[in-house]
Amino acid sequence: MLDQLAEIERAALAELAGIGRTGGPDGALAALDDWRVRYTGRKSVFTSIMRSVGSLSPEQRPAAGQAANAAKQRLEEAYERRLEALRAAALQRQLEDDSVDVTLPGRAPNEGRLHPLTLAQRDILRAFASMGFRPVDGPEVEWDYYNFTALNIPRNHPARDMWDTFWITDDMLLRTHTSPMQVRVLERVPPPVRVVIPGRCHRYESVDATHESTFFQIEGLMVDEACTMAELKGTLSEMVRQLFGADRKTRFRCDYFPFVEPGAEMSMDCFVCGGAGCGLCKRTGWIEILGAGMVHPNVFRAVGLDPKRYRGFAFGLGIDRVAMLKYGVDDLRTFYQNDVRFLRQFTHPAVTPECWDRGKPA
Ligand code: PHE
Repeated sequence: MLDQLAEIERAALAELAGIGRTGGPDGALAALDDWRVRYTGRKSVFTSIMRSVGSLSPEQRPAAGQAANAAKQRLEEAYERRLEALRAAALQRQLEDDSVDVTLPGRAPNEGRLHPLTLAQRDILRAFASMGFRPVDGPEVEWDYYNFTALNIPRNHPARDMWDTFWITDDMLLRTHTSPMQVRVLERVPPPVRVVIPGRCHRYESVDATHESTFFQIEGLMVDEACTMAELKGTLSEMVRQLFGADRKTRFRCDYFPFVEPGAEMSMDCFVCGGAGCGLCKRTGWIEILGAGMVHPNVFRAVGLDPKRYRGFAFGLGIDRVAMLKYGVDDLRTFYQNDVRFLRQFTHPAVTPECWDRGKPA
């Protein structure tokens, strides 16, 4: 019987040592539990051996009983040690799997940027601010009166066809330009006046590389007792010089707008073809960036100012066009598609070295 015990203990310990050598940690724990049930549980081999101790002679019984108990206890201890070792190994593996590699580079946060149109608008406003023009805000939903009638464009006047309009009611519309703010400002502010009004405009238009149904303008208005076309030209030339440098080519030509007389348009040389003519500039070599002119006497009359006493000039600058020229963007529509691959290319002026060179953070 003692031989039988020794044999069982040897086999059990050998089997125990093999647990966990193969298979995953879960498999090892299951095998260990199975081992425990077979060797040390209530229905283990020891239970039947203990039972058979009773059939031995009285002299043999104590030794056999003690040997069986001792063997069982050794197995139980071996079990505890093995369990402990397997648990420690599993924990170790888990720690290794879950560990954080502090030397890995971090993920950069998605940093916001100003939209290129915002950047262009700020540059333009800054240039006009240097010449004493104060920015003013105005409504995007307008009355017919401000958008047209007070600007010397009465109802049924054919000049209304210059602006394809999104009407809201018979009287109300989405402004087609920022010019209604000329009237709103002059209604409230006595001359001398020097203001710029940036804002979103809408036209019911077919969209192409240089036209969008939604776009941005900056209106400019100067009114005083003395004000000349030369000052208009000088002001706009200075703006271009500040934004694009002294070498950039501009061109003024006569144009017609009902609320100015005389009227003009200003263009800049096309950055795609350098003036030779291409698809973007419609083979002209020039890209129109603004309409301008001397304030029409009827506009002064509409706001109750004496046209004999006051003179003024006004202009309406396309921010989108300026941004295209400034950043070399050959399709205006990309400004409105919100493609981050496009938008990411424009940096906040407050953090670009170019800005520090100018010595004027935004
Ligand atoms: N409002 C005109 C337009 O959008 C531009 C303009 C503004 C022309 C001021 C003259 C004076 O086309």
